[in-house]
Amino acid sequence: MAQPRILSGVQPTGNLHLGNYLGAIRNWVNLQADHECFLFMADLHAITVPHDPAELANNVRKVAATYLACGIDPKVSTVFVQSHLSAHSELAWLFNCITPLNWLERMIQFKEKAIKQGENVSIGLQGYPVLQAADILLYEPDFVPVGEDQKQHLELTRDIASRLNHLFGPKGKKAKKEAPPILKVPEPLIQKAGARVMSLTDGTKKMSKSDPSELSRIDLTDGPDLIKKKIKKCKTDPERGLVFDNPERPECNNLLNLYMLLSGKDKDSVAAECADMGWGQFKPLLTDTLVEALTPIREKHDALMADTAYLDEVLRDGRDRADALASVTLQKVKDTMGFMKPL
Ligand code: TYM
Repeated sequence: MAQPRILSGVQPTGNLHLGNYLGAIRNWVNLQADHECFLFMADLHAITVPHDPAELANNVRKVAATYLACGIDPKVSTVFVQSHLSAHSELAWLFNCITPLNWLERMIQFKEKAIKQGENVSIGLQGYPVLQAADILLYEPDFVPVGEDQKQHLELTRDIASRLNHLFGPKGKKAKKEAPPILKVPEPLIQKAGARVMSLTDGTKKMSKSDPSELSRIDLTDGPDLIKKKIKKCKTDPERGLVFDNPERPECNNLLNLYMLLSGKDKDSVAAECADMGWGQFKPLLTDTLVEALTPIREKHDALMADTAYLDEVLRDGRDRADALASVTLQKVKDTMGFMKPL
């Protein structure tokens, strides 16, 4: 029987951090064994806010190297660059023409990013979730594994697929029964553990690449000294005894969760182990756990970045495998929308 298919991606803007790892990439690695995985670098998304052309291509390779360093096996999973397949942009345009503008005005991430851009909000930033819908629907995945912050974008993806199916798909109950919908409507896959990793400087804000303070996040390529410094400086509270799930102690909950997720221990044993600890005892423990978990990732990432010929081979192969699916879906949508066949 065919394996269920998943599709997901990361924007190549800056270094990837613990939130990207625990909310997304680590879950993909676990899904690899029994899912067909399509994983990409969302470089077309990275230009929806001002970007540096001198860094874009290298950032794409860095994200690819991080996927592999975290355990994505390119022989099993398809790893590719979004902009290498023009089908993404083309399907996004088709979707642009059937997506009501007011669906996009509701998007929380758009509102947050638009505030930061002031007068310079591009049409691309507004249309970002439509491109994301194209990224997903081209591959007709069963599931899209992401962190909590992508939930609204996935709901929009489902709405766009349903709208296209409704507008151009088979009409009437009987026809619908006989013919499948044009596009498969995928399910989000948001795993509770790690779905929302919070900032180290404010436990009520999510950890984010765009936070101006480097101290707010741990990057997957941070070395031991930097990790030690960031944990030493991270926000805590004056209480003794560490507990999960106390809304008055968001930093405490976040740091305990990080320890739990990276040590592989379960919640009860972490709760028991840390119940009587003070921060002076817990911080070195968390630092050691982070260093142990991230050192192999950093070392592998650096080795891969030194072998760009290999990385590029992976991405070329990934593009060909992705294209085999994407071009078929794009043609199917164009056919149902009534476009003249290429001559
Ligand atoms: P991006 O690059 O912001 O984040 C990549 C993945 O990491 C997750 N994530 C987090 N999870 C937990 N805690 C956090 N603090 C945290 N920060 C980020 C995100 O939920 C995401 O899963 N729009 C997407 C990229 C994209 C995409 C797609 C994803 C473009 N097309 C199609 C899936 C399918 C984004 O900006 O992710």
